[in-house]
Amino acid sequence: MICLTLSSPTLALCLEEIRKNREYIQMAELRLDLLDEEEQKRARLFPAMTDVPVILTLRRKCDGGKCTLSERQRRSLLLDALDGDFAYVDIEEDIKRSEVEQKARERGVKIIRSFHDFTGMPDDIYSRIYKLAERGDVAKAAVTPHSIADLMTLFRIADELRDVPKIIIGMGEWGMPLRILYRKAGSMLTFASSGSEVAPGQLTAEKLSVLYRADKVDDKTAIYGIIGNPVLHTSSPEIHNPGFHAINYNAIYLPFLVDSVRHFFSLAEYLKMRGFSVTIPFKTSVLMYLGNITREVKQIGACNTVVRVPGMWKGINTDYYGFLRPILKDIESGRIRNALVIGAGGASQAIVWALRNRGVKVTILNRTLSHAQELATLNYCGYDKLENARAYEGTVDLVVQTTSVGLYPDFDQNPIDGFHFTGKEIVYDIIYKPKMTKLLREAEKAGCTLHFGEEMLLEQGKLQFEAFTGYHYPKELPLS
Ligand code: ATR
Repeated sequence: MICLTLSSPTLALCLEEIRKNREYIQMAELRLDLLDEEEQKRARLFPAMTDVPVILTLRRKCDGGKCTLSERQRRSLLLDALDGDFAYVDIEEDIKRSEVEQKARERGVKIIRSFHDFTGMPDDIYSRIYKLAERGDVAKAAVTPHSIADLMTLFRIADELRDVPKIIIGMGEWGMPLRILYRKAGSMLTFASSGSEVAPGQLTAEKLSVLYRADKVDDKTAIYGIIGNPVLHTSSPEIHNPGFHAINYNAIYLPFLVDSVRHFFSLAEYLKMRGFSVTIPFKTSVLMYLGNITREVKQIGACNTVVRVPGMWKGINTDYYGFLRPILKDIESGRIRNALVIGAGGASQAIVWALRNRGVKVTILNRTLSHAQELATLNYCGYDKLENARAYEGTVDLVVQTTSVGLYPDFDQNPIDGFHFTGKEIVYDIIYKPKMTKLLREAEKAGCTLHFGEEMLLEQGKLQFEAFTGYHYPKELPLS
């Protein structure tokens, strides 16, 4: 179930939140502590106003809520609200046998016993959840993982406490996979917001339901993802999830923030993942965990796609062909013979190799000359310092920008500021946010042909989709 945490100050606005999200949710949580004082007194009327089952919660400040009432006042407010037909009431772990519990039992309202940890994870998390479950109908643990190892501990709750009815929440950016794959941790529901983030890392109900189809995940769902650090801004879920849905493949693709590649491989085995994309800074560090790599990965020295094959993980590189595809015709026709590649980092590795493999002459320009020299020696290229860029004016057919200079929010930066384009060049910036970088704006003014980072992103994504599923990326999707 996807449960919408209501965050409005009045009951009418809470109803409006439910109405807007109705198609995405199966439950709602009325947060008494977020309501105006007058509205709190009317809370008992709320369950009858809506067709979704409602959880009643009055969250204290120490548990991440807004309630600063004394325990006596809080109890009285909850008792009053319990005159309404709520489906569940949330009672914190440390509250001893209380009138609230007694009234809930009498009225047939189920009890969620909860604890919150906003800084980390308790060492005894399994036994704590077990004990909570003995005191209520459902145990709820909302904790804050800080690593992939912590995330693994949370996913394992499904096996460790198989028969315990529970809600497991991983707060913050490390916990996001658990919010999406809540069913894999045996969690009864996941909390979602309607826009504003009520708890750290919460996703919107629409995203959970439409993009991730989180409530449809079952034992047969194939799990894919992307690993990186940072990674949560990635657009790749918007490529793969609609693709899976369009070909009727029971699969999900989600981002994993990763600290240790080794621990991630353990998690991937545990979740029986079928494959994942790899982004900064793990394109090289994944190599030692792969049982099989393609010729391209071996030669480029970087891998952006890992797929499960019998008994091992296999690494492939779709970056190189994703980059090449938009300009392939121009290479084959001979329009591109000489290229200037700006940057000598991870992305440049695949690009330089791709161009050399197709017989294009390449000069690498980089801020740090030794990095350019290293990459140039491996691929038989020329190299120079970035500040000498103007020496190459009028001598190349293709200029490729591979550094992070010009990336959002630095719209006004160009690594080769002042470079004069003749207008005959093809200029390709692999940055995709923003689409039109300063370099591209200047190239456009000179009349050059432009290629954009989003072309490469989509092309490499489509190839990954083929590697993951064995199917072409569906043509009818707007991304195609
Ligand atoms: P990626 O994997 O995205 O290529 P990377 O490996 O960190 O990222 O490489 C970043 C590239 O951008 C490098 O070529 C880097 O130049 P150095 O080798 O001198 O570090 C280049 N780069 C980053 N910031 C830059 C800046 N402010 N000016 C010029 N080049 C820059």
